[in-house]
Amino acid sequence: MRPFTPIRKITTAAEKRLGPLDTVVVFGELFQRGYANGLVDEALAAQSKVIFSTVGRRDSDQVLRPLTADEVLAKDQDLINVPLEAGFDLERGRGGISPVDQLKDYGLKGWEDAHLNWGEIEVARVRGQRRFEQSCKEYFHELERRLPWNNIERGGRVLFLHTMAGGFPRAKVVMPIANRVFKGAQDRYQSSKVFWDSEIGQLCAQSFEDVTAGTFRSLVEGSRGLRQRIEKLGGQVAYQAFGYHGNEVLIGDSYQWYSYSPYLQGWAKIRLEDHAEDARKNGINATVFNVPEILTNSSSIFLGVEVVLYPLLRAFLKEDPDSPKTKRLLRACEGKLKPGASYQDIDQMTQTYLTDPDVKNWPTFKDWPQHNGPVQMLKMRDTSKSLLDLHKDQKDLMTAELSEVVFKACGTVMNAEAWAEGPAVRWVGHDLVTRATLGSIVP
Ligand SMILES: NC(=O)c1ccc[n+]([C@@H]2O[C@H](COP(=O)([O-])OP(=O)(O)OC[C@H]3O[C@@H](n4cnc5c(N)ncnc54)[C@H](O)[C@@H]3O)[C@@H](O)[C@H]2O)c1
Repeated sequence: MRPFTPIRKITTAAEKRLGPLDTVVVFGELFQRGYANGLVDEALAAQSKVIFSTVGRRDSDQVLRPLTADEVLAKDQDLINVPLEAGFDLERGRGGISPVDQLKDYGLKGWEDAHLNWGEIEVARVRGQRRFEQSCKEYFHELERRLPWNNIERGGRVLFLHTMAGGFPRAKVVMPIANRVFKGAQDRYQSSKVFWDSEIGQLCAQSFEDVTAGTFRSLVEGSRGLRQRIEKLGGQVAYQAFGYHGNEVLIGDSYQWYSYSPYLQGWAKIRLEDHAEDARKNGINATVFNVPEILTNSSSIFLGVEVVLYPLLRAFLKEDPDSPKTKRLLRACEGKLKPGASYQDIDQMTQTYLTDPDVKNWPTFKDWPQHNGPVQMLKMRDTSKSLLDLHKDQKDLMTAELSEVVFKACGTVMNAEAWAEGPAVRWVGHDLVTRATLGSIVP
């Protein structure tokens, strides 16, 4: 088991933070409200150069392509237009059949007994990995051209920010099963363990591992030549990735570790942590920041993941109730609730949920990641729904406001800690998010 190593405060001097000579390379496409925005905003504010990338696009012919000129224009980013999609779900095996093709005859009935052709899947997997490696080669070639070598010669550093996670095979049977696993309760309950042990679950496991973890290894290995060139010039290189491995949130009056279940990406996130540790052993500055749950494009499938975000406001009220930032946040959050509802109602519901014996120790740190259970799922769904029902508009949620606070604070922490000594795997809990926002962690 990996030790729990949260960051409690920032120890690095302010001069170490990103500056105008530095470059941030975002490895993965940047979406609105995604985690990477936190560090990107820090970099832009510090006038560092930021180089963006794209996952590419697939039209109805399913062929992976770069962005069109119009799509590039709409992005308005200094972007390397090489499609960096990872994974192998659409890659063809020797017989011309892809993993997604293999799933096409399965429906919500009978998927548990699906038998896949694993020889063909292995061929597709290797082809997918090779395609990604090839794209990386082109990408790093172009990156070398775009890096500001003049700045690097003058001490500019290069910070790679890995954002990639995902890998659900794009077969039409997968999302309905996933919806049951992540959202189902009572008669729609679906054991995540039964799914994970099924052949379709095993295919997901491989795909998650390649997209969420393998891409980080490819980043570190694929940029070796660049890294050596930068280091030869006396420059520094660091790699950061976003992990998830539970987090400390305010339960009662103390910050306690809690994790969403069933987080099926968890096994891939552990591999991601392994890759960062391996890189450190080789003298490379690589860090996985295990950050809190927020609402993004990628997390919307996980119903209930947001329940644990509401107590962030409790942390603000504990750390500094009189701060104008706390007051502003409280006002903004309460402004989203129905007349008559207040933050006290939200707080009471989330605390009742988090102290419930069926929920509190659902995953323990040492047994993480943990599968779901019928009672835990029912309580998570009911709590999530009751919390949503307190809002005026289901499309304008308190958790969107809180998510922004979290990703910005994580950006501040990742900027400050990028060049610090420390373990390869570090946690950012609600205590640090709160203090980073209130400005009380900065030396
Ligand atoms: N949202 C959360 O609650 C949360 C919590 C902890 C960690 N994270 C991590 O933060 C990182 C960013 O996620 P986010 O939640 O901000 O969502 P996001 O949707 O903004 O980012 C997801 C990223 O994954 C990339 N991606 C998806 N499928 C890919 C594929 N097949 N190949 C290559 N790239 C692919 C996308 O291009 C994008 O850059 C992820 O590593 C995620 O696991 C998220």
